[in-house]
Amino acid sequence: MAFDIQKIRADFPILQRKVNGYPLVYLDNAATSQKPQQVIDSIVDYYTHLNANIHRGVHTLSQEATDAYEAARLRIKEHFNITHAHEVIFTAGTTHGINMVASGFSDLLKKDDEIIVSAMEHHSNIVPWQMLCERTGALLKVIPMTEEGTLDFSAFEGLLSKKTKLVFVNHISNALGTINPISKIIEKAHDVGAAVLIDGAQSCSHIKPDLQALDVDFYVTSAHKMCGPTGVGMLFGKETWLNKLPPYQGGGEMIKEVRFEKTTYAELPHKFEAGTPNISGGIAFGAAIEYLNSIGFEAIQQHEDALLKYATDQLLKIEGLKIYGTGPDKTSVVSFNIEGIHPYDIGTIVDKMGIAVRTGHHCAQPIMDFYNIPGTVRASFAFYNTIEEVDRLVEAVKKAKVMLT
Ligand code: ALA
Repeated sequence: MAFDIQKIRADFPILQRKVNGYPLVYLDNAATSQKPQQVIDSIVDYYTHLNANIHRGVHTLSQEATDAYEAARLRIKEHFNITHAHEVIFTAGTTHGINMVASGFSDLLKKDDEIIVSAMEHHSNIVPWQMLCERTGALLKVIPMTEEGTLDFSAFEGLLSKKTKLVFVNHISNALGTINPISKIIEKAHDVGAAVLIDGAQSCSHIKPDLQALDVDFYVTSAHKMCGPTGVGMLFGKETWLNKLPPYQGGGEMIKEVRFEKTTYAELPHKFEAGTPNISGGIAFGAAIEYLNSIGFEAIQQHEDALLKYATDQLLKIEGLKIYGTGPDKTSVVSFNIEGIHPYDIGTIVDKMGIAVRTGHHCAQPIMDFYNIPGTVRASFAFYNTIEEVDRLVEAVKKAKVMLT
């Protein structure tokens, strides 16, 4: 389909609303994306026509709900080019997926094994590994970053050894927009026999990762960053790894047989899906993927790259404004500060003009420490944003600067 921005915007009811008397300019897409009518309809349709528990009943409604949920799993499998549908585990989101893997590795690591994370991780890709190290005696090593906000690849190579068991890196930094060279990272980590988990929370709304081509061991993401609902996400794990890891939680649906003497576990993916899942969320995740593909990732990237370039050029014309994250491979995130002004104050003033940006450390305090700043103002663009909205942002930031200096 041709990229028709007005037609696309018409799919998103929230974009019609006003905030503080102004038409909303939503530039906090890295925190969560907005939802098109097609995704909202899929949730309403589920509760209106299909609501039943899945994988449990012989009755028609339960069968239909199960079919819809499993169809969403298949859609996810195809979208990410995953080998087997049972390698797709529904989760509550990226953080949940990371914790499932970190918890599972408690049994597989021993003292002095090494885990590598990067300096530009979200807290959700730092804290679970620190907790894992506390449990196992493994050591956490950190890939340093450069001034332009990219990973120091030769330092990464220097950290790798036979002791390295796991490497965790985000595909795209939420605070800087840097796209990390995950293909090279996976290859180098595999050379020393380490497993790799990629945090795709920030990438999947911009990029369509081919997980077979990447040969990655684990990949996690959240539906809500991809025009889907909150509270649902995906953990991909290679079959061999998922079979090695113990279940994350015990409960209904994850068992083969329960006896007080011994319980045996169900096959994948059910081994990792105890309890009643977020059924409408899973179905809507599938609808979101279908929606994004109907626009096409090439068109999405082209439009977002144009927004990024225009926003970067226009914002840099403001005296005293500094952008963090200036590497060559970037997605549509502009993180900035103006000399002498606290980011929170800029965020508060532009909100009064109907513009939503995120301010603060973006759950990435080590990045802020690296730059020795309390936080940034972050404008993150989606395919439904426009050049006119960038102009509104730039004008509002200029006004905020005048008011605050
Ligand atoms: N991780 C999300 C963000 O970057 C919430 O805003």
